[in-house]
Amino acid sequence: MPSVPTADPDSTGAVHARAHPSLALVKYWGKRPGGTNIPATSSLAVTLDALSTDTVCRPADEDSLEIDGRPQPPGRIAPFFDRVRETVRCDTRFAVSSRNSFPTAAGLASSASGFAALALATVAAAGGDTTDRHALSALARQGSGSASRSVFGGFTAWDAGATAARQLHDERWWPELRIVVAPVHGGPKPVSSRDAMNLTRDSSPFYDAWVADAPALFQRAEAALDARDLERLGTVMRESTMRMFATMLGAAPPILYWRPQTIEVLQRLAELRRRGTAAWETMDAGPQVKILTTADDADAVAREVSPWCATSPVISTVGGDACLVPGHEPRERDTGKRAGGSDRMNHT
Ligand code: DP6
Repeated sequence: MPSVPTADPDSTGAVHARAHPSLALVKYWGKRPGGTNIPATSSLAVTLDALSTDTVCRPADEDSLEIDGRPQPPGRIAPFFDRVRETVRCDTRFAVSSRNSFPTAAGLASSASGFAALALATVAAAGGDTTDRHALSALARQGSGSASRSVFGGFTAWDAGATAARQLHDERWWPELRIVVAPVHGGPKPVSSRDAMNLTRDSSPFYDAWVADAPALFQRAEAALDARDLERLGTVMRESTMRMFATMLGAAPPILYWRPQTIEVLQRLAELRRRGTAAWETMDAGPQVKILTTADDADAVAREVSPWCATSPVISTVGGDACLVPGHEPRERDTGKRAGGSDRMNHT
């Protein structure tokens, strides 16, 4: 894992936030008109403990952002910094340095953990209220829709038309659940999820059917999650995944993220299921495969898919809320509770 950026909080006012990617079990795929990432479909997700984004933010003379050591062009980020200033009612400028423990923009939800950590770090650095998780989720959403879910740990829902996500269960809900992340291909994806989503909505004849079908998938997934029924949840997750890809294949031009290794892994998982092993796959805007399984079966699943992975599979438990990391405490106006090591935001 790349080293976590650090700074002396006394001399620079730096704060350090950490967030984990949000893996959709039922997919957010399509936005309502208006341009602020309001979802056309309800999504349901789990937060992944094993992957993380660490973001350090300090007040500065002008805004800047670097990700994994590379300075970023202001394009996508400038409106987000403006939105933070509007929300907190301040004129602070932010110097931000962010590190992912996993490949960026490769279909592993780096924008979800990235904007969740960024929302928390900037609000804290500006002296805003870091305890209002609904407001943080709504802010993170404006950077990237899925980031609204990464503000929360455990299992989350983000309802169609909603400005913020909500937590369904915290990270203790399903202790036996494991998620195997199989990175089958290195390097960035050819089309961003945002562009693919918009192209699909604007050109795929299957898009309207996807939106019409989505509420039923969400209800089935929520019931399966409430019952901690992995087979039912895995079944509906695969349906959501494949129907999302069906909309992309119908776009003009068609969008195809999968690699040969993606298919190889899917075949191996089908074989594992035939032999009675819990192994339920999902993919997002990229070739990587993520597999829901149990603590008992996780090693066997990881071994089975390993030959097709570009880097070793990672076995994850369910992750917690985005949090502030000790050593970079927020400034005085922040009222966030700081119990124990890290400042977990209140459950509301
Ligand atoms: C396939 O949240 O990256 O991962 O809102 O345009 O930033 P923007 O899109 P983004 O899309 C995520 C799409 C997905 C499914 C999901 O996470 O629900």
